[in-house]
Amino acid sequence: MDKILVHGGKILEGDVRIGGSKNSALPILAATLLTKEKCVIDRVPDLSDIHYMLTILSSLGAEVERASGVVQIRAEKIITEAPYEIVRKMRASVCILGPLLGREKSAKVSLPGGCVIGDRPIDLHLKGFEALGAKVTVKGGDIFLHADKLKGARINLRGRHGPTVLGTGNIMMAAVLAEGTTVIEGAAEEPEVVDLARFLTAMGARISGAGTQHIEIEGVAELHGANHTVIPDRIEAGTFLVAGAIAGTRVTITRTEPEHLGAVIHALKEAGFNLSHTSDTVTISPNGARKPLHLETIPYPGFPTDMQAQFCAMLATMNGTSVVTETVFPQRFMHVAELKRMGANIELIDHHATIHGVERLSGAPVMASDLRASAALVLAALPADGVTEINRVYHIDRGYEAIDEKLNGLGAHIERVKAK
Ligand code: EPZ
Repeated sequence: MDKILVHGGKILEGDVRIGGSKNSALPILAATLLTKEKCVIDRVPDLSDIHYMLTILSSLGAEVERASGVVQIRAEKIITEAPYEIVRKMRASVCILGPLLGREKSAKVSLPGGCVIGDRPIDLHLKGFEALGAKVTVKGGDIFLHADKLKGARINLRGRHGPTVLGTGNIMMAAVLAEGTTVIEGAAEEPEVVDLARFLTAMGARISGAGTQHIEIEGVAELHGANHTVIPDRIEAGTFLVAGAIAGTRVTITRTEPEHLGAVIHALKEAGFNLSHTSDTVTISPNGARKPLHLETIPYPGFPTDMQAQFCAMLATMNGTSVVTETVFPQRFMHVAELKRMGANIELIDHHATIHGVERLSGAPVMASDLRASAALVLAALPADGVTEINRVYHIDRGYEAIDEKLNGLGAHIERVKAK
C-alpha cells in the first residue's frame, strides 16, 4: 500500500484549481441508467470512488467511455443485479437502487457495510421506495426491490440525524418515471442534490424545489440523454482553504463556487483569517491573532460534517480551547487518535471533541482511515516538526485527486512512496 511522507515546515502560497465534485458525480453517473440514450458528463474527477461507480455501471451492461474528465455513458440494455465484490467497496453504490427501480422496476444490490465514520443505515431510502410502491426484501446481505409499477407518493426523508443526501437523490431518481407526483418532505438541501436535479431535468424530468426541504417530482413516461458539467467539489475546496489557514501566507482556490462554501468561509473568518472571493475563486490569508472556535456540524447550509476533521487539524495548534460537536455522524472522530500521536491535546466525550491548542505538532507515523480524516492528517503534518508518514493513502485517493501534487504546487514537500 502506498504511503506519503510530509516534510513539515514549508509555507504554502499560490493558486490551486478545484476539481469536479465526487459527491455530485456519483449519483449523476448512476442517473444515466434512467435512459437508453447517451449521456456525456464533464468535469468528473479522477478518483477511485468514481472508478468503482463506472465499473458497476459497466457490469450492469452500460457502455462506458472516459477521456480525462469527460465520461460518456449509454445504458441501452442493462441487468439489475450489481456485483457484491465491487459494491462492498463503496457505500455510495447504494445510489444505483433508485435508477434501477425507476427504469426496470427491479434491483438487487448488496447492503452497504458500515464504515469507519459509523453506521450507515439506508432505512430512509427503503422507506421511500416502499412508499412509491416497491416491495423491499433484505436477505443474505442483499437488498431486493421489485415493483409492478411506481406511483407518486408523499415521503418524509428526515431521520434522527437530519435529512439523507443520497436518500434524497435515490428517491428523486426512482420517482422521475413514476406515475403521478411525488413530494419529498425533509429533503436534503446540499448543492449535490441540486446538481443531480439539474441533470435529471436536462434529461426531461419535471422537478421543483431542489435545494429546499420540499421537493416535488412529476413523473414522466421516459427520459432522454443529456450533457452535464458537474459542480466544483466544495469539500476539496474547503480542505485547501484549511491548508492555507494552517500553513499559508496567501492561498487562492480557483474554479470553485463560493456560494457553496458559506459556512466554511464564515468559520475561517471567526477563527481570525482574512477571506475574499470573486465569482469563482476564494483567497485566504492570515489576519493577525487566530482564535479558537465552537463548531457544530449540521446538514447544509450548516457547517459540513465532511469538513469536521480538517478543522480539528487546524484547531489543534490554535491558541485557546475549541469545541467541535459532530451531530451527523457522531462517531466520526477517527482522526483524533492520530492527531494525538502528533502531539495534539484533544478530549473526546460522546460526540464532542474539546481541543486545547498546542504550540506545534510533531511528525509521526499515522494511519489514514476515512477519506476526510486522512486529509486532516496531511493538513496537520504541513506545519509540524519533522516528517509525518501517512499509511493507507488509498483512503485519500478515494476523494482527492492528486492532493500531494496540488499541495506541492503550493510549496509543500510531500513524497508519495509506492508500495514495494
Ligand atoms: C453523503 O453521504 C456524502 N456521501 C457523505 O460524504 C456526507 O458526509 C453525507 O452525505 C452527509 O453530508 C456522498 O454523497 C457519496 P446521509 P450519505 O444519508 O448520503 C443517517 C465524504 O466524505 N441516515 O446524508 O450516505 C446517517 O446515518 C462522504 O465524501 C439514516 O439514519 O449520508 C447519517 O447519520 C462521507 N438513514 C445522516 O442520516 C438513512 O436511510 C446523514 O446521512 C440514511 C441516512
